[in-house]
Amino acid sequence: MHEQAEQIALELTEARAGTLRLFDLADESELHRSPGFGYRPIIWHLAHIGVFESYWLLQKLSGQAPPDPAYERVFDPIRTPREESKDLPRRPEMEGYLRRVRAGVLEALDRFDFDDADPLQAGGYIFQLVLEHERQHQETLCYLFQMLDPSKKALPDAPRPAAFEGATAATGEMVSIPAGTFLSGAPWDSFAYDNERPAHEVTLPAFRIARAPVTNGEYARFFEEGGYERREFWSEEGWARREQEGWRCPLYWRREGSAWVERGMFEEWELRVEHPVTGVSWFEAEAYAKFAGRRLPTEAEWERAASWDASTGTKRRYAWGDEAPDDTRANFGRRQWGTTPVGSYPRGASAAGCLDMNGNVWEWTATPFEGFPGFEPFPYPEYSQEWFDGDHRVLKGGSWATSPSVLRTSFRNFFRRPFRIAFAGLRLAEDA
Ligand code: AVJ
Ligand code: FE
Repeated sequence: MHEQAEQIALELTEARAGTLRLFDLADESELHRSPGFGYRPIIWHLAHIGVFESYWLLQKLSGQAPPDPAYERVFDPIRTPREESKDLPRRPEMEGYLRRVRAGVLEALDRFDFDDADPLQAGGYIFQLVLEHERQHQETLCYLFQMLDPSKKALPDAPRPAAFEGATAATGEMVSIPAGTFLSGAPWDSFAYDNERPAHEVTLPAFRIARAPVTNGEYARFFEEGGYERREFWSEEGWARREQEGWRCPLYWRREGSAWVERGMFEEWELRVEHPVTGVSWFEAEAYAKFAGRRLPTEAEWERAASWDASTGTKRRYAWGDEAPDDTRANFGRRQWGTTPVGSYPRGASAAGCLDMNGNVWEWTATPFEGFPGFEPFPYPEYSQEWFDGDHRVLKGGSWATSPSVLRTSFRNFFRRPFRIAFAGLRLAEDA
């Protein structure tokens, strides 16, 4: 087997093991109905992962027939809308399908010669796409599982790394970034999505950005000052959404007397004030920033503060540099199963001095999701281009549930403005 093929086979096996472990968090009976808000049953994602792999690696790459046309229909998000995703096969049957697909893929991989002239094959692109797809669905699974009551879930026995040293002082500070030019997007040869390319220079005026994300404690002040009732903090669309959805606090907060209770994946706590706020829509993030007398950073400002080393004029793959993520740098990869106090990873600081730029919570930016100048959809328009619709906003940085391969500073996540179920918070910015 080709050396690169061996590495890919290993990663495919590891990713699958991670996916299957997630499905052990709850009893299968919990996974066949919507976890809430009309989202698809959690179990749907298991076969969807296999169908995506089958489409790209069996049908497209090796010209094989689809192993199960009914699966190809039911687990295609476009052909089978949310409302029709029910009465799904049981987990053992889905796993049988996944094994059939995987056997075909490993066979194809064995004979594969990585033709550099074919953009789908060069550098193993299409295998990386399939891997990243599975890893992103692992995070989706986490926020769907988060919707289930903690009493229905069991903590996996993997130990949680005791990574953090306690919150860094002065996380509430603003960091000044001088005017200048930096490199936005993915300049490296390794895998990146179409929406991360082409890398291009962006010139920004001076600005200020918060050293750390907004905490639960800070956000609670917004509530106490009547933030959810005072029209002046909200945009017209934001207020209309607040009315329509009945938003009165972040998604997993609950009032108990005069205290807040916060719900995590496996337990509840009295609000942990030093943790980053999460479970807020873009509209709430926008309202909070207004309340705080500041604004959301643009995507470019965020990326500049996270990835640009002005002293050397180089772009960093992660906030701290190019070394792979580990437990001293960030809270990522479902290792903590929840957030950590902001500023817990001083070794993860960016060159500009910002903390928690990778992991902990995704951060909403002010920027509508669009293609960079010169954008070309590849290899399919439904990954990115379909969502250049004016409603999606870019989120940056990754969360505690994000796989290390998705943590790169060029990665652009995107959700609709009212979306609240992701592990997303915010960081403040202002003009200099
Ligand atoms: C980039 C996370 C918004 O979950 O809809 C999964 C990733 N694309 N399957 C999503 C994705 C196709 C996507 N996000
Ligand atoms: Fe998908």
